[in-house]
Amino acid sequence: MSANENRDKAVIGIIGGTGLTELDGLEITGQQEMETPWGKPSAPLVHGRLNDVPVIFLARHGNPHRIPPHQVNYRANLWALREAGVRTVIGVNAVGGIHAAMGPAQIVIPDQLIDYTWGRPSTFFEGDLEHVTHIDFTFPYTEALRAALKSAALDRGVHCLDFGVYAATQGPRLETAAEVRRLERDGCDLIGMTGMPEAALAAELELEYGCLALVVNWAAGKSDHIITMDEIQAAIDEGMSGVREILTQLIGSGYSPGA
Ligand code: HPA
Repeated sequence: MSANENRDKAVIGIIGGTGLTELDGLEITGQQEMETPWGKPSAPLVHGRLNDVPVIFLARHGNPHRIPPHQVNYRANLWALREAGVRTVIGVNAVGGIHAAMGPAQIVIPDQLIDYTWGRPSTFFEGDLEHVTHIDFTFPYTEALRAALKSAALDRGVHCLDFGVYAATQGPRLETAAEVRRLERDGCDLIGMTGMPEAALAAELELEYGCLALVVNWAAGKSDHIITMDEIQAAIDEGMSGVREILTQLIGSGYSPGA
């Protein structure tokens, strides 16, 4: 399948993170190896149909999961999705919870973010430019898409919170308790390692972008124990089915860009 064939079809793209390397229920119609001016995306694009609606899935950390958050080629991922015809991107992110209501297995649709990452290629506007471009990024997540995600959750009876400030940290290590206290003072509710520069790159490409975050642990210092991979896996096992339900409902309901 060539990129040009796809360009005029507006398709929803899902970038799956930790715990969502594949999308159950996706009837796979093809895999597309892509090369972009920024290099290769994390994995081949998986073309498929969910409830008979076309969708493209990309495993952010590769499949199998092997690329750490700071080494994901976010530019190639977003570029490849757009080349394949995607106009709406939903990023699924595993996060740590700071806000008291955002404990393990809680699903959150954040409305703001603060970027603490560093050293990641984070713009398409570099090199030999004709002019400097500063995109507006006041609202990093597309409001109509956030509303559609919320109503998809309601339709399926999946409990989710539709607010929250996402702190994008560098990783791959988790935070210290003092770092989490600082993030809390900054007004952050959730912490993840992959929300940026993904959201900003989507905005640069004028793609709709929304985040579906699954809390997989209390952030460091927010519980009486240290964070273990077992607890993270348990929260993924408990909460990812709700994420899948929301995605299936949203896509099946015929959401289209600018809706
Ligand atoms: N901090 C940062 N990123 C994360 C966390 C966390 O506690 N949990 C899952 N991703």
